[in-house]
Amino acid sequence: MNSYEQVVSEKLERLRNQRKFNLLAIESSCDETAASVLTSEREVRSMAVHTQIPLHQRYGGVVPEIASRSHVERIGGVVRYALEDAKMSMEDIDAVAVTCGPGLVGALLVGVSYAKGLAFARQLPLIGVNHIAGHIAANYISHKELEPPFVCLVASGGHSHIVEVGDYSQFRLIGCTRDDAAGEAFDKVARVLGLPYPGGPHLEKLALSGDENAFSLHAGFNAKPILDFSFSGLKTAVINLMHNAEQTGRELNKADVAASFQHAVVDTLVTKSVNAAMEAGHGKLVLAGGVSANTTLRNRLRVAAEAKGIAFYCPEMKYCTDNAAMIGCAGYYGLLGGQSSSLNLNANPALAL
Ligand code: KG4
Ligand code: ZN
Repeated sequence: MNSYEQVVSEKLERLRNQRKFNLLAIESSCDETAASVLTSEREVRSMAVHTQIPLHQRYGGVVPEIASRSHVERIGGVVRYALEDAKMSMEDIDAVAVTCGPGLVGALLVGVSYAKGLAFARQLPLIGVNHIAGHIAANYISHKELEPPFVCLVASGGHSHIVEVGDYSQFRLIGCTRDDAAGEAFDKVARVLGLPYPGGPHLEKLALSGDENAFSLHAGFNAKPILDFSFSGLKTAVINLMHNAEQTGRELNKADVAASFQHAVVDTLVTKSVNAAMEAGHGKLVLAGGVSANTTLRNRLRVAAEAKGIAFYCPEMKYCTDNAAMIGCAGYYGLLGGQSSSLNLNANPALAL
C-alpha cells in the first residue's frame, strides 16, 4: 500500500462508522459542468450547474471538443461556487465522488482528472460513479422514504433502460431500446420540426397546442410483448410525413406532429415500464433521466402505475436533467456499501450499469 492508500483506507473506515460526512460530487459527462455538496446520502447542501447549451445550439447538437474545452474552463469555478454556497471549504470535505462513465470521453476525463487531483492533494477517499446510477439515485433525494427494490425507467439523451434496482448498488437490465434513446428521438424529431437543441423541452412545449391523435405513428416493433422497444422507426415515420407533405405542397400542423410523436413515445414507455413493474412484483415504479422532466410522461406513468396498484416516483424537476447532487447520492451509497476507487480511476465512455 502506498501512503495515499493507507491514509484513505483509515479515513474510509472512520467515515463508514460515523455514516454522516461531507461529500463533494462532480459531473461532466456531457454538456453540463456540475458540482454539489452533500452532508448525508439524501441531504443536498448545495448544487451548481453550468450548462453549455448556448455553446452547442448553433450546431444543433453537442460538439465533443467544445464540450471538453468548456468543462476545463468552468470546472474550477463551478466547484468553488458549490463549496461557497454550502458555506464550506475543501477543509470541510471528507470524500469526493465523480461521474466516470458513460458519456463523452473527453468531457468525462475533465471531471475524473479534477476529482483525482483533489482527492490526492487532500488525501480523501474517491469514488467513481456510473451516470445512470446517478440518475436513478436522484429519486432518493426527492423521496426520502423510497428504498429498493423497485423497477426504474431511465430515459435520457443517451440511454433508455428499464432496470430492476435490487439494492443501492445492484442493477439488472430488464429492457432497453434497440436503437435510439428516448431523448435522442425527441432531439432528432425536434430538429426536423425546426426547433432548437436540446429538442425535448421545446417539442413538449409545441405539443401542448397540438392534437396527439392527428397522426398515427405507432411503430410495429413496440407492439411486441417484450420489454425492449425501438424509437428509430418512429423518427423515420415523422421524417417521411414531413417529406411527403413538402412534396405534395401540403401545410402540416407542426404542433399536431409534435403531439402525435410525443404520444407514441410516451405510450411505449408507459406500457413497457408498467408491464416490467408488474412482472417484477415490487409494487414500485420509478422514473429517471432527462426525459423524466416531460410532464406528459410523468402524468401518464403515474396514472397507469397507480391503476395497477403500483406506487409511482419521479425526481423533482431540478434533479431530472444532469446534475452533481444525484452523483453525490449514488457515490455516498457506494462508499457506505464498501466501494471506493483508486487514483487509477479512468473515464469509461461505454461504462455498463
Ligand atoms: O439525462 P440528460 O440530462 O442527459 C443525458 O444523460 O443524456 O438528458 C437529456 C435529454 C435530452 O435528449 C433532452 O431533450 C431530454 O433529455 N429532455 C426532455 C425534456 N427535458 C429534457 N425530453 C422530453 N421532454 C422534456 N421536457
Ligand atoms: Zn444524464
